[in-house]
Formats: sequence, structure tokens, C-alpha cells
Amino acid sequence: MLRRALLGLSRNERAKTLLARAPVTAEVVDRFVAGETTDEVVAAARRLTEAGLLVTIDHLGEDTTDRADAERVVTEYVTLLTRLSDAGLSGSTEVSVKLTALGQALGGDGRDMARENAATICGAAQRAGTTVTLDMEDHTTTDDTLETLAELRKEFPETGAVLQSYLRRTEADCRGLAYAGSRVRLCKGAYAEPESVAFRDQHEVDLSYVRCLKILMAGDGYPMLATHDPTLIAIGSTVAQNLSRSSDDFEFQMLYGIRPGEQTRLAGLGMRMRVYVPYGRDWYAYLVRRLAERPANLGFFARSLITKN
Ligand code: FDA
Repeated sequence: MLRRALLGLSRNERAKTLLARAPVTAEVVDRFVAGETTDEVVAAARRLTEAGLLVTIDHLGEDTTDRADAERVVTEYVTLLTRLSDAGLSGSTEVSVKLTALGQALGGDGRDMARENAATICGAAQRAGTTVTLDMEDHTTTDDTLETLAELRKEFPETGAVLQSYLRRTEADCRGLAYAGSRVRLCKGAYAEPESVAFRDQHEVDLSYVRCLKILMAGDGYPMLATHDPTLIAIGSTVAQNLSRSSDDFEFQMLYGIRPGEQTRLAGLGMRMRVYVPYGRDWYAYLVRRLAERPANLGFFARSLITKN
């Protein structure tokens, strides 16, 4: 109930204005977001790289309703990729991109615009010596995102996909994407979805995650297990071992600010551990989804409110 209410708030403009003005917000944002500027996120990527972690950077923003905004996002990514290359960080750091930030939600020729914008970013990533992963958003975008991925992979075969285990369709999508050269991030899924398309029960979502990870691990692609869930991490490691996948033939991924000790521990064991690092001003929807995922995150926010006021 609480999760669905919070996910509803993630798209509420009035709540966004109120939260942005709350005096404690900056402190909470700092925990999950690596700053507002390119300089700040490049510095965060350097710190994480020096700690033995891999990185994927997300420029915050989604559901863009303005063409000029979508173009600004492209410029931001191209600048970021150049900076990462200049800083010698493109070996450890890739970028994650949301198609709705690039125009997918604009209507009309928005989908084509998003594809062209994504291709521009993929080109910049290729020149910088790194890769792009297309984030997955709510289920109304899944087909278009996978079609865009297929188009992009013709020219940029290294482009990564994301699949969400809460969607009933995802096992089939995993089978379709478990081919050589395919990079697939598997996550549980972070949007409020109807029961007709998604499992609502958390246990069912977890069981689906296990079925999906087995398909990806048994396939010929490169699985990227994005979860903070200790049980799923243990199952992922065991399945990889049983299938004789070496530790450099798959990776774990976690979000910036969540379980940082576990991130370092896994990297220390020789696992490939990538941290998803968001930056930028448009943090609201991202932050509310993080709060919806875990009551403890909500408690953290509430505690900061009490201490500050
Ligand atoms: P979940 O939130 O169910 O937590 C399971 C268990 O993990 C908890 O019971 C606890 O044991 C442990 N845990 C979780 N948080 C913890 C904390 N803060 N401290 C200690 N223990 C904690 N979603 C999407 O829809 N599209 C996308 O493109 C992406 N991309 C993405 C990239 C990456 C790198 C990650 C890690 C996640 C995403 N997500 C996403 C978000 C994802 O779908 C999901 O909402 C979150 O990862 C939360 O789900 P978990 O699998 O972590 O488990």
C-alpha cells in the first residue's frame, strides 16, 4: 500500500514542489545522488573506480515533454562522455539512459527522436571507449524500448538492455536476449504496474528473478544482476559457479548510497561490482522510487526531518 502510494507521488507535481522546498531534502538527496554537475559526478566516478568498483552514470530526468529539454539531455551526456574519456575513466564507467528523457514520451515523432538521440549518445560512448545501457521504465514503454535497443545494436552492438522480473513477460524477453554479445541488466522493477502485466507479490517477483537469472546465466550473453537482495546475490553467485561462468563473465550492480559496504565486499572478493550513480537537478522521481522500495529509507528521511526542525 505504502509503496504504491509513494510510487503515485513520484509523478505528482505538487508533492515534487513541496519536497524540493523542505529544508532537509538536500541531505537526503546527497545520500542517493552524486551531485548536480558533471564535475561532481566525474569526481564520484573517480572515487568509486579507485575503490575497485565499476560505475554506470545516469543523468537524472525522465518523461521529458519538451524537445529542447531532450536535446539538452543529449548534450549533457556527450559532454559527460568526453569528460570521462579525458579523465581516463571510460574503462570503468559507462552511462545509463532513459528513453523518456530523450523524447520517447513526446507523442508524434517522439519515439523516432528518442532513437536518434540515443544513437547520438551511443556514438559518443563508442568514441569514448565505453558503452550505454538503456534503462527500462514503466510497462507501456517496454516494447518500444526493446525495439529501439534492437535498432541501436545494429550499429552499437555493445548497447545494454534492462529487464524487470516483476513483469510477467520478462522470462520470454530474457530468452530473446540471452545471445552472444548481449548485455542484460536484470532488476526487480521500480514502477507501479497493474496486476494484468506484473506480479504484485514480492515472493513471486523474487521467484521470477531467479528464473530469469538462470536463463541469462545459461545463455551466451553478459548478465548484469542489479539487486541489493542478499538471497538473490547468493543465488546468482551459485548459479554462475554451477554453470562455470567466471567472475569476469557477469557482474553485480547496486545503486549509489545503498549497501555501500556490500558493494566493497563483493568487489574485494574479485567480483565485478558496478554502482549506478545518478546526478543532476531532476532527482525527485528517482528519490521517491528509492523511498518506496524500503521503509528504512523512509525512516532515514523522517529522522533527518526530525533532527533538522
Ligand atoms: P528489494 O528492494 O526488494 O530489497 C531486497 C532486500 O535487499 C531487502 O530485504 C534487504 O535485505 C536488502 N536491501 C535492500 N535495500 C537495502 C538497504 N538500503 N540496506 C540494506 N539492505 C538492503 N528499476 C527499473 O524499473 N528500471 C531500471 O532501469 C532500473 N535500473 C536499476 C539499476 C540498478 C543498478 C539497480 C540496482 C536497480 C535498478 N532498478 C531499476 C531498481 C530495481 O528495479 C529495484 O527497484 C531496486 O533495485 C530494489 O530492488 P532490490 O532487488 O534491490 O530488492
